[in-house]
Amino acid sequence: SYSAKIGPSILSSDLSQLGDECKRMMECGADYLHLDVMDGHFVPNITFGHPMVECLRTAVGPDPFFDMHMMVSRPEQWVKPMAAAGASQYTFHLEATTNPGNLIKEIRESGMKVGLAIKPGTTVEELAPWAGQIDMALVMTVEPGFGGQKFMEDMMPKVSWLRSQFPSLDIEVDGGVGPNSIHKCAEAGANMIVSGSAVVSSDDPRSVIALLKNVVME
Ligand code: DX5
Ligand code: ZN
Repeated sequence: SYSAKIGPSILSSDLSQLGDECKRMMECGADYLHLDVMDGHFVPNITFGHPMVECLRTAVGPDPFFDMHMMVSRPEQWVKPMAAAGASQYTFHLEATTNPGNLIKEIRESGMKVGLAIKPGTTVEELAPWAGQIDMALVMTVEPGFGGQKFMEDMMPKVSWLRSQFPSLDIEVDGGVGPNSIHKCAEAGANMIVSGSAVVSSDDPRSVIALLKNVVME
């Protein structure tokens, strides 16, 4: 049976309590943690960098998988610091670099898995040449920058096309995904599902995660 992993985005949580929030998400059934890094340049918002990631790694221990979503203009700059801080996967934006091949190699050499993200305006054909060299493709379903935006259903053809061409590639969706949209992502073939505000802002994140998992197990 089909199944997908659920990775809460902690962007919408109480930022003064991030370590506890990460622990709480794992205790509530999260499969991994999606950590949104924003530099105020690639996107019009700022979050946190590798010093925070190092503290979060200490807080949660060695096991939880940290999927770093790097919404930054110079992704080359943070590969080594993020690896040293305890990141598991480094997902950079295709729009942010002129040399994806070299960056993929550097990320691998640093010991992390490689993710490649595209914004809504970027075609999946632009990502395709790199798909054989990466672990995960991230198809954004909102314009990156903020949590709590509306899910863009018209991105689903990108996911289905990638799934048809690359059967064993991890495909992640991110932005506006919750109980009302996750079935569309699952049907299109996404197997890593980010959910931010739907999980984190809920009174009962455990139930929401269980509900999301139930949809992708069907
Ligand atoms: C948006 C971030 C997302 C976001 C998801 O720029 O990359 O990870 O936090 O949050 P929701 O699910 O609320 O859209
Ligand atoms: Zn994200």
